[in-house]
Amino acid sequence: MTFMTVNLKQLAAEYAVDNFVNDGMTVGLGTGSTAYYAIVRVGELVKRGFKLKCVATSVQTERIAKECGITVVDIDDVDSIDVTIDGADEVDPNMQLIKGLGGALLREKIVAASSREEVIIIDDSKLVDALGTMSPLPVEVLMFGHRKTKKALEKQGCTAVLRIKDGRTFVTDGGNYIYDCRFERIDNPFFIESRINVIPGVVDNGLFLNVATAVVISSADGSVRMM
Ligand code: A5P
Repeated sequence: MTFMTVNLKQLAAEYAVDNFVNDGMTVGLGTGSTAYYAIVRVGELVKRGFKLKCVATSVQTERIAKECGITVVDIDDVDSIDVTIDGADEVDPNMQLIKGLGGALLREKIVAASSREEVIIIDDSKLVDALGTMSPLPVEVLMFGHRKTKKALEKQGCTAVLRIKDGRTFVTDGGNYIYDCRFERIDNPFFIESRINVIPGVVDNGLFLNVATAVVISSADGSVRMM
């Protein structure tokens, strides 16, 4: 008997592109290891002759997209985006999300806000009963006074850890730091978001509430379902 290893990220990504992207659309390209496969699939559509304009959610995504032969345009040069396909770190039963472990939450949120449809691609390991139970909540903060911002974040009931990558403090595409905020669980994400967003020094946070219009979920048995 032979067993095939299913690439769950690729499965969800290709399903989303094949079902949500049509010729002539303006498409938002997400960031991360799952979104990578969506970018590659969009590149295949372009090679097949689809006329697509794409908006990137990070410098990294822009580079990958260009390598795939995709035309990348500035978000300010499009009226709106037909569909954005992006990953997530956690998805709760109400399609509320935590995003940003890949560090691109700010541009991802700006792109999502201009998108008619926001399609999230995950494997079923990212499904949670309550946000914050698996993933920390990434919060993007200004470098100026960031230790004061950390203290204010921790007053909301979390432990905030400055993100380090490859031995250095991680700096976002917007030139900011990220604190990964570990809560036991986030039972009322709307309340937590409202508390975090009024802290001076906070640029944005990884709660994406009422943003997803569809969630594509792949499973190890090779099946794909939608929320
Ligand atoms: C990038 O900033 C993130 O929001 C990613 O979309 C999220 O972290 C999911 O990434 P993976 O698909 O790599 O797990």
